[in-house]
Amino acid sequence: MLDDLDSQAPQRASPLQDDDTLLLRLRGLEVSYGSGVEKKRILHSIDLDVFKGETVGLIGETGSGKTTLVRSVLGAAPMTGGTINFAQVEISALKGRALRNFRRGGRLQYVFQDPLLSLDPDVSVGDSVAEGLRIQAELNQEAISKRVAAALESVGLDSEIAIRHPRELSGGQRQRVVIARALVLEPTLLLLDEPVSALDSASRVQILRLLKTLGRERGIAQVFVSHDLGSVAGIADRIVVLYRGHIVESGPTMQVLRYPQHPYTQLLVGSAPSLTGGAADRKRRNELREALADDA
Ligand SMILES: Nc1ncnc2c1ncn2[C@@H]1O[C@H](COP(=O)(O)OP(=O)(O)O)[C@@H](O)[C@H]1O
Ligand SMILES: [Mg+2]
Repeated sequence: MLDDLDSQAPQRASPLQDDDTLLLRLRGLEVSYGSGVEKKRILHSIDLDVFKGETVGLIGETGSGKTTLVRSVLGAAPMTGGTINFAQVEISALKGRALRNFRRGGRLQYVFQDPLLSLDPDVSVGDSVAEGLRIQAELNQEAISKRVAAALESVGLDSEIAIRHPRELSGGQRQRVVIARALVLEPTLLLLDEPVSALDSASRVQILRLLKTLGRERGIAQVFVSHDLGSVAGIADRIVVLYRGHIVESGPTMQVLRYPQHPYTQLLVGSAPSLTGGAADRKRRNELREALADDA
């Protein structure tokens, strides 16, 4: 799949990394599920910064806590410690009306794996995309229709698709609709949780391209979550590796791919077919697996 995208990370000027360009900052984030003896810590002291306009690839195996991390930023996971700041506002401390206003503002948007779960089957595409704008309640119907048409076109869909319903679309089209619904609110950050994992490989490449273009042309920052290094490598400026609820490695994409430090990352890089040309060194991989088993 990487062959079809540029194999290099985007050659964008690296963001000036100071507080002015900081968009999302997680410090000491802890999340646990359950209570009493059943209590299980899922995320351990997570520190993460996302700067304006950059794409961060968050990778990790299934169960490592990627979705939990995204859900905590949305205020939908049981945080037991730490802080989450977005555009200099501590959103993890917002409650009630302040939280509703923040969400309504729409600067932070998300896209999940399965577009069918994100779209109401009884609501037309146009109404789905318009929903966030209607909640903001500042625009008349004509202005809303224009914004919806522009959002659909910006994800490569004909605006006439607005009258259709989700079941009348392909998986790739549905995911474009979900992305349009996020874009219509002019977000500065998109959280994308396995956005292409449920798609066939042709749609996957197209959606990856679309996301890459959105990052480049509109400067929308993205946190792109995936269990698949191959999907992320072509679009991320930086890669962050989550392993059993810990961030074990992070760095510029090319650096992590060329010089992976943590055994888990080494295993991932070694197993990404487009990076090894298929000639995986089995002995080395077994050693890495043993090193990881020792960690457990
Ligand atoms: N609502 C929940 N209640 C209890 N445990 C959960 C819940 N959601 C996730 N978990 C557990 O948290 C861990 C991380 O899950 P998740 O964040 O979905 O990982 P990933 O997205 O990396 O696959 C898993 O062990 C999962 O079983
Ligand atoms: Mg997940």
